[in-house]
This record gives sequence, C-alpha cells and structure tokens, in this order.
Amino acid sequence: MITNKTPLRDLAKKRGLAVGAAVNAEALRDDPQYRTILAREFGMATCENAMKFGPLRPSRERFAFDDADAVVAFAGEHGMAVRGHALVWHNMLPDWFAKGGFTYDDGIDLVRGHIHTVVSRYRGRVCAWDVVNEAFDDRGGWRDSPFLRMFGPDYPTMAFHWAHEADPDAKLFYNDYNADSINRKSDAVYAMVRMLLERGVPIHGVGLQMHLCAWDAVYPASVAANIKRFNDLGLDVQITEMDVRMKEPFNESGLLQQARIYREIMEVCLRAERCSAFVVWGLTDRYSWIPQTFKGEGGGLLFDNEGRPKPAYDALCEVLAS
Ligand code: XIL
Repeated sequence: MITNKTPLRDLAKKRGLAVGAAVNAEALRDDPQYRTILAREFGMATCENAMKFGPLRPSRERFAFDDADAVVAFAGEHGMAVRGHALVWHNMLPDWFAKGGFTYDDGIDLVRGHIHTVVSRYRGRVCAWDVVNEAFDDRGGWRDSPFLRMFGPDYPTMAFHWAHEADPDAKLFYNDYNADSINRKSDAVYAMVRMLLERGVPIHGVGLQMHLCAWDAVYPASVAANIKRFNDLGLDVQITEMDVRMKEPFNESGLLQQARIYREIMEVCLRAERCSAFVVWGLTDRYSWIPQTFKGEGGGLLFDNEGRPKPAYDALCEVLAS
C-alpha cells in the first residue's frame, strides 16, 4: 500500500506544478482504494471519458452529466483542479452525430450549443479545457472528422471562440499525441496555434499527451525545445495524458526504463519556462486503457494493479523533492 511519504501532489505544489490523473468514473464510484489514492496523490483530475461528446450526449436532446458531475464533485471535495477533456474530437462521437447530414447552419447550432452548455455548466470549476483534440494526422495534415467536413479548417477558430464565450476565465488548450517532441506533427500544431494567436483567437496553451513506450528512445532535449517554442509564443504547456507502456511480460528492467522516462519528462517540465501541469492517463494499471488498445501491452502508470506505487512513482517524487 501507499507509504506515509509526502504525497506527489504536495511535492508538486511546492514546485508550482499540478500533478493530475485521468479519472475513470466507474472506478471512482466502485473502488474505495481508487478514491484513496486519487485524493491523496493527485492535485488535478481529468475525466478519462465522461466529458467526451459521445458519453455526454446520448441523443441530440439529452445530456448525461452524471459521471462528469461525480468527478468534478470529488475533485471539489478534495481540493483538486479539473481539466476538461475534450470538446471537439473526431473520436467517441455519438452515432447520431457522427452520421452527419447536418447543414452548415445546423452544424454550427449543434456544436456551438454543445460547447456552450458543457463549458458553462462547469464554469469556475474546470480551469482548463482541451477545446480541440487531435486535429492532425502523424504527417501533419488535417485529420478527417465531421468537424473538418462540416466547417473546414476554420473549425478550431470557431471552437475556441465558443468555449471562450461560455467561460472567459478558463484556459483553453489544443491537445495532441505524438507531437511531444519536434516533428512534422508538432510543426503543424505550432503553425496552427501561431496562426490562431495572430488572428486573436483565445487559445492559452498546448497539451502534449505524452503516450510513450518504455522500449522506445525518448529525446528530452527535443521535448524541451518543443515546449520552449510554444512558451515563446506566450502559451502555457501541460503534459496531459502521460503513460509509458511496457510489453508483456513486464519485468524489472521495463519498470526501470519507465521510471527513467517519467523522470526525464518531469525534469523537462520543471525546467521549462511554463509547463504548469503533469497529468498521467489513469491511476492504477488495473483500469488503464492500454491493454484494450494495444494488444500485449500495459503497465504504463504510476501504480500497479494492486495500487502499489511503482519505481516511476518514486522517480517522480525524487525529482520533485530535489
Ligand atoms: C481513451 C480512453 O482512455 C479510453 O478509455 C477510451 O476508450 C478511448 O479514449 N487520447 C485522448 C484520450 O485524447 O481521450 C484517449 O482516451 C486516449 C488517447
């Protein structure tokens, strides 16, 4: 079980950083150990799925806020900040929406209405929103989505304006994966956010998801340079969905590699001019999305199936305390 050392969230707070976790609403409801670890170790929460379009919108007429409300309430009770995730994303859309067939005007009505309703419900309680998630493919081109089809490449501009209308105090983020270091995809993100800023669009930060593999090389200097170029535009950067997956069978050397990678990314974040949050994509390996998504892989988080802290957890504590 967890030791009586200073919790991660307190160590991070002393360094001016929020350490967060994606929260599985079901585990939060059913698993007392899950609640204990979350409240003790993390100062920030993201709904892993509950604030996505599909889960929130079973039909055009109906919103299902229960899970998202429960996560936000738990966070409030335990002094945790909340990141909102995600308003505009090609994935996990409800069928009735993904099917399309909306006119331009109807589409605007629908998406603007969705963003207004969701963002204003959590106004003052969600400090940062992933307004647009994963708009680019790995080569840096626009990813196909109902939003792109309906509105063209102006859709991020529209979405950021709508979110800002609903909560002028929330920090608004563009979020993506495989755009953590300098590469074609992060170049595309950089070009887009610079264009948005030039046009006066209310965007305040870039989220680097940081879904990594323990067996791959990580280039901290390149991640640092990437963060710096966003900071130089006046934007905040947050690590939004970190996990470092291993291949089965998991072994000691994988755990140590993983710990080293967590440590290196945390060091980069601490050294950056503005890297204000470090969020991991889940709490314990038991509920992680990785085994369902990447066959034969898993074990990417800070706590194991039983809720015991792993070497990666110790590594983060060490860096934060040093
Ligand atoms: C994942 C969730 O973890 C899964 O439970 C769900 O089935 C699919 O979505 N990038 C994101 C996250 O922005 O929303 C994704 O979350 C993981 C990849």
